[in-house]
Amino acid sequence: MTSNTESMKKITVVGAGNVGTTTAQLIAEKGLADVVLIDIIEGIPQGKALDMLEACPLWRSPSTVQGTNSYDDTAHSDIVVITAGLARKPGMSRDDLLQANADIIRKVAENAGKASPDAIFIVVTNPMDAMAHVTQRITGFPHQRIIGMGGVLDTSRMKSFIAMETGAHPKDIEAMVLGGHGDLMVPVSRLTKVEGKNITEFLSESVIDKINDRTKNGGAEIVGLLKTGSAYYAPAASTVEMIETILGLRKEPLPCSVYVDGHYGIHGVYVGVPVMLGGSGIEKVVELDLTEGELAALHTSAEAVKGLMEKIGI
Ligand code: LAC
Repeated sequence: MTSNTESMKKITVVGAGNVGTTTAQLIAEKGLADVVLIDIIEGIPQGKALDMLEACPLWRSPSTVQGTNSYDDTAHSDIVVITAGLARKPGMSRDDLLQANADIIRKVAENAGKASPDAIFIVVTNPMDAMAHVTQRITGFPHQRIIGMGGVLDTSRMKSFIAMETGAHPKDIEAMVLGGHGDLMVPVSRLTKVEGKNITEFLSESVIDKINDRTKNGGAEIVGLLKTGSAYYAPAASTVEMIETILGLRKEPLPCSVYVDGHYGIHGVYVGVPVMLGGSGIEKVVELDLTEGELAALHTSAEAVKGLMEKIGI
């Protein structure tokens, strides 16, 4: 009999809501790691985890999935994904969740950080850039091991809107959305290509503006449709893309929220820039050659995140 348990990584997902469970499902379905799903509500993480565990034979997956209410079960995780917190309701911006989610994240970061002092943390809870910073402050971990998920999602949304406009296969589309995961995010259409050709060469300005606006409002568009919650398929897939890169299964720059202190002339704030991820977390910030206008938009977005940090006194 062979056992995979020796080599299996352990990933904790905090929050058994839609984003958390879909993330756990993708990890288990792909057999990327053993999964621990933790939530404060009794029964929900246990039930959802058991349900996923029972699907693993069908997925031909060696993963185990455990649901729990105790951080003891999360001990020595390699990666911790934080999705706990409130989601937006129609009409709300991500920033409206600031105070309530900061209180939740403080508790989660303290408990999860103590249980897994060597883990890489991926923060998904909104307003994500600020919550990544809170997680770093509370855990005291090196910035290299705290990464926010936003740019990968925003970029995937942008690619899907370009695919809708052009009929191109998403795999042939290169795009990059920088800045905070908020209303001031920066889709860089100048560097956006379909089959190697820049979109500015064959799409009109008004179509590009439409793609950019829809990208910026991508989260709100889903909230408006669902009415009782926010997006989760694409946020979970984006988180798993980051996990696969950390695990060394992919190697390409991803836009992630990281602590920027010097790059792009930005100082002391979590904001979305392209980074190389790997086994130690953030291995490198990639410096794109941005125009003055793009850089100014990135700075404005970073200032908005700083404003949120000031509001919660960090
Ligand atoms: C969204 C949430 C995850 O953009 O921020 O859908």
